[in-house]
Amino acid sequence: MTTDRIMVTGGAGYIGSHVVRQLGEAGHEVIVLDNLSTGFRDAVLHGQLIEGDSGDLPHVEMLLKEHRIDAVMHFAAHIVVPESVSDPLKYYRNNTGNTRNLLEACTRAGVRRVIFSSTAAVYGVPANKECAENSPLEPINPYGRSKLMSEWMLQDLAAASELRYGILRYFNVAGADPGGRIGQSTPLATHLIKVACEAATGRRDHIDVFGTDYATPDGTCIRDYIHVDDLARAHLLALERLRNGGDSFIANCGYGHGYSVREVLDMVQQVSGTTLDIRAAPRRAGDPPALIAKAERIRALLGWKPQHNNLEFIVATALAWERQRHAQ
Ligand code: UFG
Repeated sequence: MTTDRIMVTGGAGYIGSHVVRQLGEAGHEVIVLDNLSTGFRDAVLHGQLIEGDSGDLPHVEMLLKEHRIDAVMHFAAHIVVPESVSDPLKYYRNNTGNTRNLLEACTRAGVRRVIFSSTAAVYGVPANKECAENSPLEPINPYGRSKLMSEWMLQDLAAASELRYGILRYFNVAGADPGGRIGQSTPLATHLIKVACEAATGRRDHIDVFGTDYATPDGTCIRDYIHVDDLARAHLLALERLRNGGDSFIANCGYGHGYSVREVLDMVQQVSGTTLDIRAAPRRAGDPPALIAKAERIRALLGWKPQHNNLEFIVATALAWERQRHAQ
């Protein structure tokens, strides 16, 4: 017999912790499984934190049975694209291998609902700036491939069993809990808004703009930035869909429009009231000029309605978190 308890792997990490917080606020029972390699104990605001690897099959199987888990949300993963290029096996082990073991544990324990954190990196460098869920899947780095392989495993397993999945492909996730309780604490962050907020709070002396000669209106890359709280809400809706007997699905998570690097940096300067030392730098390998979600499906399937579709709000919450961390 199962209850309606949820296991969240990687629930002490940036995105996972925002989902755990919302699950708690919505009254769900949550078990967080995190090895704390990049997560933080104090980011887990609800539920029970259990230290461990999502790929430790006997341990996970035991936990799923003991806690009578009915759904798994799988966030635990490495996410640094350049590192995936220099150390691919780390990514295939932690992202792909661990997902395989987690899915076997789910199968053995009779867990039939899995929500999986995927990424726009599965699209690679798209021919069109907008990516639909059925756009070609041509990841250009091991990170993207490690996630795409996990998507395929889920689809194959669902075809062979009663498991149903929700695959959410994240675009550029940014911002922090509007209540200021949690945010992105990743050391050595590479993400634009995080890096810019570190610069605005004096943690970096300058910020590089990787490429100023792209065929975009201001020559810098365009991305679809989505607030982490809106993304988190999509996971709760995905869970509801699967629990209500809805079919497996894949959905992009983005707002469907983008901002250039320069627009983002302007906003960070405006919101922070600082002048950043912004330096033009060479293009970064593997950066598509523009990456924007076609974002209709998630609205249609899940009834998702973004509440923070606003770059100023995204930057303001990211900056508030950065300031608070450094004040501690
Ligand atoms: N950028 C800069 N300077 C920086 C950091 C980033 O100019 O210091 C630029 C990048 O070159 C890029 C844009 O800002 O044009 C966004 O870069 P991020 O590193 O913030 O994000 P990415 O678009 O590279 O990566 C995101 C996700 C990845 C995912 C990828 C898919 O964070 O997990 O999209 O393309 F793999």
